[in-house]
Amino acid sequence: MKVAVFGAGYVGLVTGACLADLGHDVVVRDIVQTRVDALLRGEVPIHEHGLAELFERNRERLDFTTDGAEAIEGVDVVFVAVGTPPTVSGDADLTAVWTVVDELPHVDRRIVLAMKSTVPVGTGSAVRHRLDERGLENVGYVSNPEFTAEGTAVQDFTHPDRIVVGAFDPADAEVVVRLHAGIDAPVIECDVNSAEMIKLASNAFLVTRISFINEIANVCEATGADVVKVAEGVGLDRRLGPHFLRAGIGYGGSCFPKDSLALKQLAANSGYSFQLLNAVIEVNELQKRRVVGKLERHLGSLRGKKIALLGLAFKPGTDDMREAPSLVLAARLQAEGADVSAWDPVADGHPLLDDVAVAGSALDALEDADAAVLVTEWPELAELDWGEAGARMRNRLLVDGRNMLDPELLREHGFVYEGIGRPNET
Ligand SMILES: NC(=O)c1ccc[n+]([C@@H]2O[C@H](COP(=O)([O-])OP(=O)(O)OC[C@H]3O[C@@H](n4cnc5c(N)ncnc54)[C@H](O)[C@@H]3O)[C@@H](O)[C@H]2O)c1
Repeated sequence: MKVAVFGAGYVGLVTGACLADLGHDVVVRDIVQTRVDALLRGEVPIHEHGLAELFERNRERLDFTTDGAEAIEGVDVVFVAVGTPPTVSGDADLTAVWTVVDELPHVDRRIVLAMKSTVPVGTGSAVRHRLDERGLENVGYVSNPEFTAEGTAVQDFTHPDRIVVGAFDPADAEVVVRLHAGIDAPVIECDVNSAEMIKLASNAFLVTRISFINEIANVCEATGADVVKVAEGVGLDRRLGPHFLRAGIGYGGSCFPKDSLALKQLAANSGYSFQLLNAVIEVNELQKRRVVGKLERHLGSLRGKKIALLGLAFKPGTDDMREAPSLVLAARLQAEGADVSAWDPVADGHPLLDDVAVAGSALDALEDADAAVLVTEWPELAELDWGEAGARMRNRLLVDGRNMLDPELLREHGFVYEGIGRPNET
């Protein structure tokens, strides 16, 4: 089939490349000229495992443009993969979605507009109404939410747990299902509202698990239990499963914070107070800040102290720093008067970080530091020579914000090690 993808971001590029790999002809449209120029030169503007190889392999079936009308010429399906960031009120900002809908030209055959962007329940109905108002009855509408996770997005797209297709007209759903032929996954066909809710509910459940285990971690700290063992024991229960039970300094990224907030506001706008989700969000905010208290317990005032942040991206495998816990941490530490240095193998902090000395290596970031905080569980940090790291630091204190490292090993190197929800040195 012939496919257009609107939005050359994390979702749009993965969608375009994976659909091309399935044998479809794909045009990716973005409004940022420099991004499209880079893509036309063969550059991949994001760090995502396996994506460059897919681009290389499918060069002949992948094209890029800034011209919306050109992009949809002769296509069967138009995917919308534009950003839906939070507004000041916490609701999803659908400006980019509406731009795509309003710029759709009249077409003389049936095409399907498939929504991959994460949108509030009711968006599909509103888009359908707008399309009808504009006389675009032959543009079908399908909600096809995206569940890929950055860092594993190519694998997630090609081996999804499920494909969700919500449609007003079963024939439109069929087109989108056929487009995925070759991918072996259960297909959930449903109404548009339910498809939209499946996406929001999935993310809300995942963040609930994270905040749940983080609260268990905090109680472990107060009572002397080890949350790593607790999570292992809980996760082996088949009714619960092991996923998203890793305690840490909280979730971040371009999806979890905004989607949980958007669902909370969607509920509130509909007259319902989603109390559980309110608590989940609040727990996450506090969790990021607890690191500062841990540092102060060992160092006293942080004024003039140098704190090294190891990892900036919101998780390993991506350069995405949107809503990364590192941003909150850096700002909080600076507010307490600390000097902040940092290292990340792919994220450079630009333009989100202010006054943070981003070093070229983890060891350089640790030079003369009074403490280090492991913020992102990059595999490189497990491999680091912690003896050398300690020698470079002014004071050997490590807060392992992801419970990634072996406490015993760190202690052998003379570190005071603090994890999240783990017993302190006895
Ligand atoms: N990032 C993820 O892993 C992920 C996973 C699942 C769902 N989502 C959802 O998918 C959507 C896209 O997320 P993302 O992370 O890829 O966003 P992104 O910010 O990386 O990319 C969005 C792109 O859309 C472009 N754009 C804006 N207006 C446009 C228009 N009118 N026409 C064409 N392009 C336009 C922007 O220039 C940008 O390059 C969001 O709704 C997000 O919640 C993201």
